[in-house]
Amino acid sequence: MADAKTGLYGLIGFPARHSLSPAMHNAAFKALGINAVYLAFEVHPDKLGEAIGGVRALGISGLNVTMPYKEAVVRFLNSLSGDSEEIGSVNTVVNRNGRLEGHTTDGIGARRALERAVELGDRRILILGAGGAGKAIAHELAKDNEVVVLNRTPEKARALERFGVTGDSLNRANLVKYIEWAEILINATSVGMNSWETPVSGEMLNEKLVVMDIIYKPLKTRLLSEAELRGCRTVDGLWMLVYQGIESFRLWTGLEPDENLMRGAVLEGLGQ
Ligand code: ATR
Repeated sequence: MADAKTGLYGLIGFPARHSLSPAMHNAAFKALGINAVYLAFEVHPDKLGEAIGGVRALGISGLNVTMPYKEAVVRFLNSLSGDSEEIGSVNTVVNRNGRLEGHTTDGIGARRALERAVELGDRRILILGAGGAGKAIAHELAKDNEVVVLNRTPEKARALERFGVTGDSLNRANLVKYIEWAEILINATSVGMNSWETPVSGEMLNEKLVVMDIIYKPLKTRLLSEAELRGCRTVDGLWMLVYQGIESFRLWTGLEPDENLMRGAVLEGLGQ
């Protein structure tokens, strides 16, 4: 039961009502016996500054930030972590006595999801997509690994070369070339979301690849399904969602919730 001491956390986005984060974080608060609740706040685009003012005024303890505010929120915060400063994007806000710190957990979430299937070591990584998610993942993985990013709009992939990645155009010739080169393939485009499309045709895949999709609707995308048929190890997008959530939770509370509990809560939210 909420009482006068209940801590308040939430998500801001537009839209926000379909989010699975409340189910995930409330399950974790309950399991760890923390007196806190997590709500979804649908914030209209002209009200972002006021919403952040409200976080300070009401003493909301922490936030997740989702589309379309991950970049726009930056100017309302007091400080940024190194990673969020480099990519200019925030998905987690920590309120430290009224000072709001911005962090990003998308990249580390993807790293932890991948590590379920493979030790990254010095493996070569091909990322498809240079949107918000692709950028965060490329920035994180390029710290220790060779990374190539292919994007439909090649300028956006090339703009990531400042992180030490190679950026190029997402076309068939480059897919053939870089899939041959890569040991890990990550889809960070929206191709395959709520559809049976794939950014890579099945016959281009080979069993030495570990394949991760960041899409989780459907949970088994066409890409993952065809990768499995080829004998590849695969990681679904729900694991990235779960680990970015775990990393946000750790920033807020210092505690690490159970990954299977978080995943179970999200699966329940998805109706599976
Ligand atoms: P997110 O925050 O999920 O990364 P986003 O920033 O809108 O969302 O990025 C969507 C990504 O999917 C981009 O890389 C986009 O390519 P462009 O930068 O060229 O727009 C990619 N994408 C979307 N539809 C695509 C399609 N039909 N074919 C190839 N790439 C596509």
